[in-house]
Order: sequence, then C-alpha cells, then structure tokens
Amino acid sequence: MWGGRFAEGPSAIMREINASIPFDKALWREDIRASKAHVAMLGAAGIVSREDAATITAGLDQIAAEYARDGVPEDWDLEDIHMTVEARLTELIGPVAGRLHTARSRNDQVATDFRLWVRAANARALAGLNALRAALVDRADEHAATIMPGFTHLQTAQPVTLGHHLMAYFEMLGRDHARFSAAQDRLLECPLGSAALAGTGFPIDREATAAALDFDRPTRNSLDAVSDRDFALDYLMAASQCALHLSRLAEELILWASQPFGFASLPDSLSTGSSIMPQKRNPDAAELVRGHSGRIIGACNALMITMKGLPLAYSKDMQDDKPPVFEAAGLFDLSLAAMTGMIAETTFKADRMRAAAQAGHATATDLADWLVREADIPFREAHHITGEAVKLADAKACSLEDLALADLQGIDARIDERVFSALSIEASVASRSSYGGTAPDQVKQRVAEARAGFASDQSPEE
Ligand code: ARG
Repeated sequence: MWGGRFAEGPSAIMREINASIPFDKALWREDIRASKAHVAMLGAAGIVSREDAATITAGLDQIAAEYARDGVPEDWDLEDIHMTVEARLTELIGPVAGRLHTARSRNDQVATDFRLWVRAANARALAGLNALRAALVDRADEHAATIMPGFTHLQTAQPVTLGHHLMAYFEMLGRDHARFSAAQDRLLECPLGSAALAGTGFPIDREATAAALDFDRPTRNSLDAVSDRDFALDYLMAASQCALHLSRLAEELILWASQPFGFASLPDSLSTGSSIMPQKRNPDAAELVRGHSGRIIGACNALMITMKGLPLAYSKDMQDDKPPVFEAAGLFDLSLAAMTGMIAETTFKADRMRAAAQAGHATATDLADWLVREADIPFREAHHITGEAVKLADAKACSLEDLALADLQGIDARIDERVFSALSIEASVASRSSYGGTAPDQVKQRVAEARAGFASDQSPEE
C-alpha cells in the first residue's frame, strides 16, 4: 500500500518490528465503525459518489460479520488493523475500496479508533466503580455500629466502626470516579479529518463524522489531534490511582482473613485451596488485585515514557500506545469486578473485631479525655495517668474497664465511678460524633448522603 517509491520490499525483521496487527486487531470494531462514518460523510459531501459510498459501506458490514464470526486474520505484511480491513475490502469490492482512504490518513484513523476504544473502557470503569461503591455503602450501612480496632502504625489506636472503615474506601473511590468522569469529558473530541497532520484540502464535514461517532465536537488542531495520547494517559492515570486504592483494600482483606486477625472470611467463590494443605483457604483474588495494581501503574509509566520525547506530529513510537492500555484495562476491569464480589460477600466476624478492639486498650484516649473533661486535669498529665492505668491493666491481664475503681483511684484519687461509662468501646465510638467521625449515627448519615448522591452521580453513557 505504500510500495510505489520502493525498489524492494521490507526485510523479515522490518515486517516483524513494524507489525501491530497482533495487538491492534482488538480495534476492529472501532476501525470499521469509524470508516463507515467517514465514507458516509464522503458520500454526503459528494467527495465520493453515493454508489461507491454504498458499495464501501456494504463491504465494511460484510467484513464486520466475518470478523465477528471468524476473528481477524493476522498477516504481518498488512502491518495493522487499518490495512487489514482495507485489503479485505479490496478483495471484496475491487479498486473502489481505494476511495475509502480519501481525505484521511492512518494517523487520524488510529487516533479516532483508539479514542473510541478508550472511551468504552473509561465508561466501563465508571460503571464498575459505581457497582463497587454501592456494595461498600450497603456493607457500611449493615455494619454502621460494628466495632473494630482502628489502627495507626498497624497498632491498635482507638475503636472505630467497620462501617466507618468501609466508607473511607467509598471516599477514595468517589475521587476516582471524578477522575474518570473528567477523562470522559476530554474524550469527547473527534480527531477524524485531521488527516496525516495538517488537515485536508477536501471539503469534508468534521462535525458530521464527530456526531456520527458520538463525539461532541471535532478536535481543534490537526497536529495535536494526531499526536495526542493524553486521553489514554488520563485513563491510565485514573486507573493507576484507583488500582492503588483497590490494592490497599485488598491488603486489608488479606490481613483480616488471616487466622491471627480472624476479622473476615472471604467468599469461597473468590478464594482458592491448597493442593497440599487441606485446611488452607487462600485470598488469591485479593492478592491478585494487589498484584495487578503494579502492572496497571507500570502500564501508565510505560506510555508516559513512550510519549515524553516525541516531536510533533505522529511518530511510529506511538504504535506502542496500545499494548499497555489494553493490558491495563483488562486487569483493571477484573480487579473492580473481583473487589465488588469480595466486598458484597465477605463475612465480617463482628465478635472477633470486638474482642480485638477490647484487647488493645483502645479506650485509653477516652480515659485521658474523661480526666480532662470531668477532673479538669491538663491533657499531658491525664495522658500520664492513663499510661499508668494501661500498665496496671496489662499486669492484671484485663482491659481498662475491668480494673476495679480502687485500682484506678490508687493511681489518681480524682477518678470516680462515673469513669466506667467512658471506658466501654461502645461509649468510645458513640462519643466520636464530630462531623466525619466514627460514631454510628455519623456513619448512618454519610451512608444516607452517599445513597442520595448516587442518584445524581450516574455514569455517563459511553
Ligand atoms: N499502526 C499504526 C499505529 O498504531 C497506525 C498509524 C500508522 N501511521 C503511519 N504514519 N505509519 O500507530
């Protein structure tokens, strides 16, 4: 298709290094869709005859049917999906197939195809995120008052509610949703008609092709349009940050499902057994979500590094844009789906969580706060008195609330029996009712707001 000026064909190595068909055949639907929009516009504008446009459209429809049935043939000599479709079109309808490429280049063609593909992936991300957010809200509602230890440094810090902990992830995923939504807005510009790099002299109608492909408008600068891959990076960056969040959640589920924690039992459907240790139930899905985040972040890194040194406009380096995006999107879709299943179906062990919260002197801060509030003791001194009480409880192998009043008064005489109402973990979480705090009533309010928010935060259509 470009042989005119060459005396001999490419070497075997050239053919192999050049061929993108092994991976860009995934774009066949987008390629045919964009070609149909292009030829319809060419026909309507009188750039090709209506008869030729109809012949080309029928040929493209036949190719789509063939690919859907038999898959896309992989011939390295044809380089990529664009030439593969055109070569088949020529076989089917003869030389009139050559009119399809009027007023277009593979540069604006691939930019258009790839945008269509990324737009669909981005829309799947938005829908998948909403499914996971809905699962988190449901479980948070169910466990608004379930008490667990809250950690800093992975050391028991203060009791929190499981609902509050789950809603922390809801917040992260809400920010992710906003990033994918912003990416979706920027994906609404159509590069088709930018041609090789400078636009075209044919009287094309770019508004028409943009509308036919469900874009809002054509891109404004042809040089940018054919050499821009920000839309793919927007997707990969949003996916990377979201994968990071999914990885943290996966890590928590893995810890919680371990025997020493025993806070959770992951669903059988998302766990595996061991071929040698019959008692094992391994959190493989969670581990793979944690692992996949590395590959997704790596894909983002790969494309950024591919793009960073390229002069305007198109360079063949840009052909390497597709493998990282395709790989990351597959991993990301799976990660979202697996995590949604795990959140929906994990059994949380409220008794174990409660016992752990009870065991770690998690209400020590409540004792110190009580001394400040009821006995007017400066916080630093209250902190010291509480430390003594913790030491005594450790020595007696009991919790703070199980210490006798006499023991506490032996440490500081200003303590009286009212202190016990502050020392239970229930009282502790109920007291943390500041806006955004862990108290069950606060969690219920955030859950209600989240549910109402979903109504106005629907995923945009692909
Ligand atoms: N297979 C190419 C790619 O994915 C299509 C664009 C080819 N353009 C060119 N000027 N050789 O980037």
